[in-house]
This record gives sequence, structure tokens and C-alpha cells, in this order.
Amino acid sequence: MKFEKHLFVCENVRQGGERPSCGGRGGAEVRQYLKARVKDLDLKGVRINMSGCLDQCEEGPVSVLYPEGRWVQLSNREQAEAFLQAHLRPSH
Ligand code: FES
Repeated sequence: MKFEKHLFVCENVRQGGERPSCGGRGGAEVRQYLKARVKDLDLKGVRINMSGCLDQCEEGPVSVLYPEGRWVQLSNREQAEAFLQAHLRPSH
């Protein structure tokens, strides 16, 4: 089966430097949560992928949904769940 929607969740962890990174600010937890929810809800055609730096670090923790090209800041489970309900579930 080919996936119809891919959500790439940045989990990059940067040590030092000027820019913040997403991995330590909720990115990792958000990805784990969404992966589990997609499985629980049996959302066919939806894939949650780990991503490295998406070069939007200051907006992070960031995720991007394709094919829509929708960028979003997801910092915690509540935001992740709201995004799932709005954009990852099939429309009725
Ligand atoms: S570290 Fe996440 S976008 Fe750069």
C-alpha cells in the first residue's frame, strides 16, 4: 500500500549553537504519540515519519504534512491530537 499522507516530524537534536532544535522541545514525544494514534485508529494511508532538521528551527517543534505542504508547530499531545482530528482523519 502506498501512503497518501506523510507527516514529517522534526526530531533533530542540536548540541550548542545559536539555533534551537525540535527534538528536545516535544518533537520526539509528538511523533511517538501520533504514531500510536494512527495505529489505534487504523488510519490507512497515513504515515508518521521522523525527520531531521527542516530548517524552520525557530518555529519549532515543527512538522510538515504532505502532499498538502501544511507546516505546523506541534509541541505536545494535545496539539498533536487536534491536528490529527483536523488533518489526518479521512473526511466524512
Ligand atoms: S531542528 Fe527542527 S527544524 Fe531545525
